[in-house]
Amino acid sequence: MVNFYLKPLKIGLLMVWLCGFALISISFYASTQILPSSSIKEQIKDLDSSVGPTVTIFAAARPFIGSIGSRQSLAIRSWLGLSQDIRVVLFSQDPSVFSFADSFGPDSRVSVEPNIDYTFLGTPFFHSMVARAQISDSDISVLMDSETLLFPDFISTLNYVHKLDHDWLLFASSRNILDFPFQLDVYGQHWIGDDGQRVKTEKLQEILSHVWWEHCDDKKVIMAWNNGAIPLHNGVLPPFLYGKGFHTMWIINEALSSNFRFVFDASLTISSFSVNNLDFHPKIEARNWEHVGNSHLRAFYGSLFFREADYSNVIKLFKCNGHYHFGNTTENIVYPLGSPKGLRFNGLEVFRLSNHKKLFGCFDKIKSLGRKVGCSKENQVMTLEPLVLPFSLELLLSMRADHHKTIVLAVAGYSYKDMLMSWVCRLHHLQVSNFVVCALDDEIYDFGVLQGLPVFRDRLAPSNISYDDCHFGTNCFQRVTKVKSRVVLEILNLGYNVLMSDVDVYWFKNPLPLLTTFGPAVFVAQSDEYKITGPINLPRRLNSGFYYAHSDNTTIAALKKVVKHASLSNLSEQPSFYDTLCGLNGSFRLDNDTCQEPETNLTVHFLDRNLFPNGAYRDLWDSSNVSSTCMDIGCFVLHNNWISGRQKKLERQVSSGLWEYDTSTRMCLRSWQRFKPLNYF
Ligand SMILES: *[C@@H]1O[C@H](CO)[C@@H](O)[C@H](O)[C@H]1NC(C)=O
Ligand SMILES: *[C@@H]1O[C@H](CO)[C@@H](O)[C@H](O)[C@H]1NC(C)=O
Ligand SMILES: *[C@@H]1O[C@H](CO)[C@@H](O)[C@H](O)[C@H]1NC(C)=O
Ligand SMILES: *[C@@H]1O[C@H](CO)[C@@H](O)[C@H](O)[C@H]1NC(C)=O
Ligand SMILES: *[C@@H]1O[C@H](CO)[C@@H](O)[C@H](O)[C@H]1NC(C)=O
Ligand SMILES: *[C@@H]1O[C@H](CO)[C@@H](O)[C@H](O)[C@H]1NC(C)=O
Ligand SMILES: *[C@@H]1O[C@H](CO)[C@@H](O)[C@H](O)[C@H]1NC(C)=O
Ligand SMILES: *[C@@H]1O[C@H](CO)[C@@H](O)[C@H](O)[C@H]1NC(C)=O
Repeated sequence: MVNFYLKPLKIGLLMVWLCGFALISISFYASTQILPSSSIKEQIKDLDSSVGPTVTIFAAARPFIGSIGSRQSLAIRSWLGLSQDIRVVLFSQDPSVFSFADSFGPDSRVSVEPNIDYTFLGTPFFHSMVARAQISDSDISVLMDSETLLFPDFISTLNYVHKLDHDWLLFASSRNILDFPFQLDVYGQHWIGDDGQRVKTEKLQEILSHVWWEHCDDKKVIMAWNNGAIPLHNGVLPPFLYGKGFHTMWIINEALSSNFRFVFDASLTISSFSVNNLDFHPKIEARNWEHVGNSHLRAFYGSLFFREADYSNVIKLFKCNGHYHFGNTTENIVYPLGSPKGLRFNGLEVFRLSNHKKLFGCFDKIKSLGRKVGCSKENQVMTLEPLVLPFSLELLLSMRADHHKTIVLAVAGYSYKDMLMSWVCRLHHLQVSNFVVCALDDEIYDFGVLQGLPVFRDRLAPSNISYDDCHFGTNCFQRVTKVKSRVVLEILNLGYNVLMSDVDVYWFKNPLPLLTTFGPAVFVAQSDEYKITGPINLPRRLNSGFYYAHSDNTTIAALKKVVKHASLSNLSEQPSFYDTLCGLNGSFRLDNDTCQEPETNLTVHFLDRNLFPNGAYRDLWDSSNVSSTCMDIGCFVLHNNWISGRQKKLERQVSSGLWEYDTSTRMCLRSWQRFKPLNYF
């Protein structure tokens, strides 16, 4: 996506790294070049006195309810108390999280970011979180779990590494503790014991040092990086779901193998831990994500796959006698960084073990801790099980419907997956959340589950309709469209009103408030009339790609007739709608925009062509700015029909800017993405 400016950078960096490593090797083999330790001391003192970096901590927050709520609250207050330069951005759409942020008052350092990608169950997508964190305007971005407590050594570590003359990415494993008997004071700066007394820092450090890295949990890995121009890693981060799987480790592995940034392990200098450990997800979702089949993953994520994690070779940051050092625990090498301008990483000097006894004595002790950092292989096994959302259609509808029991329905096959996503992203943008997606084939079903969509399979759908040229007029199209009326009828029978919208209908604004005013026994549909004047309900002018059907006996009876008619016809279902409801030749027309089916008395109302234009009306798609032209005439939606072929349809929509999905990063396009290019290429 942003190839043009990153390519030269990448080559430049590789050069830097090659030189860096060459220097390491040279000084290693020479093994005599050692900086006097006194000069290092001075430099570090200098650095300590300078102004600290601005830091934004990003975290996916769970609803602030019960014990989870208090754990999160404690954790976040522990972050804010560390420095005035720390801001917190919580990823959530839950009202309780907004209330929590509001409780800090206006202009507080805590804000909520609802505008990233979430699954329909409210779990954020990790790739979307990382992308958002990367466009932060602070010096350092941190991504971590919302329940992890931080201590002052976190900010000292960041202050120190901020001086590195190289873009960096650090990670730090957190520890679990069953019981943490302290509370924060009202300012969030001091820990208070049972006796109401402040806990001394030394005592705290002492307690913390006994807490072990109990087991490996990706969520408990803190990741931080300076916001430089250099990407974290090569390639594209797959659409991982937050909280399940090894996604932080995936990034660390990719970052290590990409060699763009200096990647190091700061677990030894950052004390962080969480009290207890519960799953982030609703159990159902977690189970599904754990058991995502490998074949599905490959199809979805492409060649990017998690490699075995082994961090014993990764350079570690440690602190001895009050000074920070980098070291390689497998080789007994310490890198004394420091220069008058900042910490130089490019021209590394190396201390051998034999020389600085005191430093290495300390390093030895710390090394034993370091070995515990990382993650064992057994935890990373993914089992092979089919990908299924454990929701029946009934359950899905009850979860998704709005308070009028109305559902927006999209029906799609795999060849329309990008179009579907663009449509979904648009609905997200309009904050329309009562939609469900009917999958016509297995591929789109799996895709939908991985993209976090409320998707269900149409059990009766023909199994072979996923073809590129399944467009208007073809056999395939006829069979697909007949699925739609059947599914709509099924949902009406379950007691839900349905707005059926093809995925090639672009929504400018939410039409539901208007459509629901027509009431029962009125079927409201888009007109396919392309003329500017004259009746809009002439024969075969009913567009069955966008209609609203109220769940009542009249509508259901009429829809049954349509479905029956369609099943006997060798045309698509669209003419069946018109011929059944408005009569062959329009004999049931009442006036210029309504019909009445005489047997059921269902009224058919054709929508104003200016508000709900089809793809041929006024040549809207040909205007220089489709969006502004449409807005001017008051469009609610614009149908991308009256064009032959999926590819052309797609191109028309993308080139007109009515496109909301980035197919390369698998994320909805958002205002924050448009401002600054992502670090992806
Ligand atoms: C640390 O030392 C080991 C053993 O020599 C080596 O394989 C590894 O590459 C070193 N790590 C770094 C980051 O230099
Ligand atoms: C798809 O399946 C239908 C019936 O199941 C069959 O009539 C049709 O020939 C098949 N089409 C293709 C392209 O395989
Ligand atoms: C319906 O349209 C026709 C043709 O444009 C026009 O003559 C007639 O007056 C219209 N009727 C109504 C009720 O608007
Ligand atoms: C709709 O039909 C059902 C069963 O066919 C019937 O029980 C119900 O009373 C009807 N409702 C109305 C409003 O006619
Ligand atoms: C399709 O319908 C038309 C008109 O109803 C008829 O002439 C034609 O034979 C039908 N074709 C098939 C394959 O049934
Ligand atoms: C429909 O109109 C055509 C031509 O106007 C006529 O031949 C045909 O009989 C009409 N059919 C019906 C059912 O009214
Ligand atoms: C439709 O309306 C007519 C006239 O008002 C009435 O006689 C008939 O019973 C109605 N049919 C139904 C199914 O309600
Ligand atoms: C189209 O018009 C809208 C609203 O006037 C404007 O925001 C947008 O930038 C325009 N798009 C293009 C491609 O000119």
